[in-house]
Amino acid sequence: MSQLKSLKDLSKIKGKTVFLRVDFNVPISGGRVSDTTKIEKLKTNINSLLNEKCKVILASHLGRPQKKGRDGLSLKPVKKISEKILGHEIDFLDINEETKNNVKNSKQKLIMLENLRFDSGEESNSKEYAKLLSSFADVYINEAFSCSHRSHASIDSITDFLDAYAGSTIIDEVEALEKVFLNSKKPVACLIGGSKISTKIDLIINLMPKMDFMIIGGAMANNFFKHEGFNIGKSLIEQNIETTIKSIYQESKRHECELILPIDVICSKKFDQAGKNKKLSEVNDDDIILDIGIESTDKIDSILQKSKTVLWNGPFGLFEYDDFANGTNDISRSIAKYTKTNNLISVAGGGDTLAAIKKSNHQNDFTYISTAGGAFLEWLEGKILPGLKVLEK
Ligand code: 3PG
Repeated sequence: MSQLKSLKDLSKIKGKTVFLRVDFNVPISGGRVSDTTKIEKLKTNINSLLNEKCKVILASHLGRPQKKGRDGLSLKPVKKISEKILGHEIDFLDINEETKNNVKNSKQKLIMLENLRFDSGEESNSKEYAKLLSSFADVYINEAFSCSHRSHASIDSITDFLDAYAGSTIIDEVEALEKVFLNSKKPVACLIGGSKISTKIDLIINLMPKMDFMIIGGAMANNFFKHEGFNIGKSLIEQNIETTIKSIYQESKRHECELILPIDVICSKKFDQAGKNKKLSEVNDDDIILDIGIESTDKIDSILQKSKTVLWNGPFGLFEYDDFANGTNDISRSIAKYTKTNNLISVAGGGDTLAAIKKSNHQNDFTYISTAGGAFLEWLEGKILPGLKVLEK
């Protein structure tokens, strides 16, 4: 179990000015925040700091302004919705030499800084920028697990200048992930879906020694079908991936981790045309594989029924289209059911996976769902996250 400095290690927080690194990198369309999950998740923690008479500085990035320009990437719309969600007025401040005084003189207990990435020093992990940010507060708390794979000034260098602690959402996230890895109850099943196998190869290889079942779905399964000699028609496939596929088969044997592939699929000629359930041997040259079939979901259900721990990343079909969301919905439903009836420990994460689970309306039925995308995957790949490293005791 990694030992992170938590607020329990801080003798007195009362009355302090807290630099709270949050992940309010939320989707905005037409000037409005379209998904507020990340803000709602922190409501309790922010309010308990306010109850301790702290002045709380909410600091986040939004998008990639250094690459795409500042247009549409101000955190102002996030400030507006955060006031409603958190139930407090927020003072919105630009980051510059005046900010320290502005924080001090602000009548509000809750402050939000403008997009941290408007300054290039954020992404370059600049000590100078980190020092400026640190000058606004007495203590640093990171509540942004989902940003902790970034060695950026507000995640990494800032801890050179301020006493730094992991907030409880980070502690909870790490504990949930460690449950899957350390002392996980066996059998352990892992479901990996999505489209690009090259982005998940490190993940699959790193997970295999710890898993009893590696269940592959989504478009990446097409590469395995092709490897096994099946026609995949016009389905999505990744080029130059043969060596990767072979090494996955080898690792599966070496670690006695059973590789499970779909046995039937839903095919269509178009995304907007309902599909047909076919055996792998029945796929035609003009078919596109867009979901897993009924026999496959039944097989996966029986594996989940006998599993004690499950980890899920990546949808098993083109779930954005209702006609091809059934496989992913069925998996979500099975996991939710066994979490309730069999004490299955269920952990899921990644942006698309979260969206798919929400679509199936089971977002409250898993043991833990991570809102982190890249950080969740890097942690599972066994990488050391720089933002966690600096918070170790
Ligand atoms: C996320 O949404 O996963 C985090 O905010 C990290 O965002 P980034 O990929 O822009 O660093």
